[in-house]
Amino acid sequence: MAKTPSPARDQLGERTRLVQAGRDPSEHHGFVNTPIYRGSTVLFPSTDDIQNRRGRYVYGTAGTPTTEALERAWTELTGAAGTVLVPSGLAAVSLALLSCLKSGDHLLMTDSVYRPTRVFCDTVLKRFGVETTYYDPLVGAGIAALLRPNTAAVFTEAPGSQTFEMQDVPAIAEAAHAHGAVVLMDNTWATPLFFPPHERGVDLAIEAGTKYLSGGSDLLLGLVSANERCWRRLRATFDSMAACAGPEDVFLALRGLRTLSLRLKEHERQALDLARWLAARPEVDRVLHPALESDPGHAIWRRDFKGSTGLFSVVLKRAPNEAVAAMLDGLELFGMGFSWGGFESLVIPFDCATYRSATEWRPAGPALRFHVGFEDLDDLKADLDAGFARLRERHASLA
Ligand SMILES: Cc1ncc(COP(=O)(O)O)c(C=O)c1O
Repeated sequence: MAKTPSPARDQLGERTRLVQAGRDPSEHHGFVNTPIYRGSTVLFPSTDDIQNRRGRYVYGTAGTPTTEALERAWTELTGAAGTVLVPSGLAAVSLALLSCLKSGDHLLMTDSVYRPTRVFCDTVLKRFGVETTYYDPLVGAGIAALLRPNTAAVFTEAPGSQTFEMQDVPAIAEAAHAHGAVVLMDNTWATPLFFPPHERGVDLAIEAGTKYLSGGSDLLLGLVSANERCWRRLRATFDSMAACAGPEDVFLALRGLRTLSLRLKEHERQALDLARWLAARPEVDRVLHPALESDPGHAIWRRDFKGSTGLFSVVLKRAPNEAVAAMLDGLELFGMGFSWGGFESLVIPFDCATYRSATEWRPAGPALRFHVGFEDLDDLKADLDAGFARLRERHASLA
């Protein structure tokens, strides 16, 4: 840990904590950052030490100064009992689920969840005898009616990372806890800076560090933080799999952590501006962004969240696929690709109608998801403006 300034650490402001957390220059010859430790074997000085596994580090899979630095920083920021680091966000989701479920258990999963999470439930968990029921993300306290005697876990994601339904996580957590079930949350959109998961009742919180912790589309990483109730099981499950994050990725994530607050606020500002601009476009039917006053999830977002980030969606008015393709294919500043959280703006078309099972996705027209980066907003708007002109032209020519 960095040298503790005079006020107690938990009284320090968030930006100060982001700068300080998980660093101890005195352990690294004064260098500001914890270096990248690569390695499998750790040598023990004596037979007695190796037989008793005595030593701060014992083997590469069990932790290095680099991984420990990020684990400690994340534990401090999330207010958790502990954190583990895994090689991707999806690995974090699967590890968290495996740590709290066993054969014969029932899992309640939000219908708005990141699709690969759904695939994990419908394939691996199913094969191991865990039954998943998908629930309406807007269920709130009504989740109580869906809990079965064998419901061991309730998984939330707020907002859904394509369709942006806002979940009432505290109400869901209260009902789940009264039943004895563990509450998980994929908190990648808000990060702990904008939604403190454990304070709001989440037992196991998942962050795809690939997104905002990186901020550069240059690494793959997953983090799971756990409260006291779930920490030992999480760590034991992690140790039994040794699915370790790569040291370079962890180092880059530590670098990203220092500027996370500044970047998130800028993503928030840019995305809200662009979302409002899109809402006023004649080609747009509606914008899905919980921080907009018009959004159905706005009241919950205001109550529970401290900010919004760079990812939101829009539903266009009815238009043929060819017209949408003409719009997207000609964009010069928005890239088309999966993932998000980097400095660059992205857009993808999406359609979740075919795989939702507890709710229906029936938008008025094609849907697009935007991630807004740090480009000049005037340039981004000009790029989209030209895109909308192509959409209208192609639509008219097909009519
Ligand atoms: C909400 C959410 N959770 C988890 C993940 C998985 O992260 P990763 O790409 O690191 O596996 C993603 C990736 O897009 C995501 O959007």
